[in-house]
Amino acid sequence: MAAILAPSILSADFSRLGAEVKEADAGGAGLIHVDVMDGHFVPNISIGPAVTAAVRRATELPLDCHLMIEQPDRYIPAFVEAGADMISVHVEVLPHLHRTVRLIQEHGVKAGVVLNPATPLSALDEILPVTDYVLLMSVNPGFGGQHLIPEVLRKAAALRERIDRDRLDVRIELDGGVTEENLDEVVASGVDMIVAGSAVFGSKEIRETTARMVRRLAELAERGYKV
Ligand code: DX5
Ligand code: ZN
Repeated sequence: MAAILAPSILSADFSRLGAEVKEADAGGAGLIHVDVMDGHFVPNISIGPAVTAAVRRATELPLDCHLMIEQPDRYIPAFVEAGADMISVHVEVLPHLHRTVRLIQEHGVKAGVVLNPATPLSALDEILPVTDYVLLMSVNPGFGGQHLIPEVLRKAAALRERIDRDRLDVRIELDGGVTEENLDEVVASGVDMIVAGSAVFGSKEIRETTARMVRRLAELAERGYKV
């Protein structure tokens, strides 16, 4: 199966958000990635449930909400109400991670656990069989357009091995610094879902760029890359 491309609207032109999301959809995106920042956990403020609901009206693609916020439990119902299909939360802010993952799943959406680049995979030991997906940050969260931290690809490959070995039903998503130039290496690490913000929405032709990246993912899968 080819990896899925998840364009992140963080780099979209918010004055044309609906139209740009439709372009990514038409280009073959598999998910729309929604980056939510609170100015506490990360040094930036982005968007919340109202904008998520607006994106929901622009596309039928699943909405993948990445909560870079300190108290996600308080906002999970609002994101579900806004149309989220997947919600991920950071282990770094959650002393009761298991409760939060269950809370997301009880709302009928997929739950993801996010690790910052410096957070070791061992943080997943007890939660891996419970979560639906793991989001590995390949940049320090807060901003689009940063460079991918290459060590994270080894981390992704190690997680792939572990999930396959234990035959777990858990997907891996990678987020940050993905470009058309490093897409092959990212796929080779064995991830299932790939976020791309500036590479897609920072490009002049959103639909064409999305289509080119999606085509490349299909080619790599055909050639037997570990995806
Ligand atoms: C970073 C966000 C990412 C970001 C990706 O805090 O979580 O989703 O928007 O943007 P690029 O692809 O430009 O690194
Ligand atoms: Zn993100």
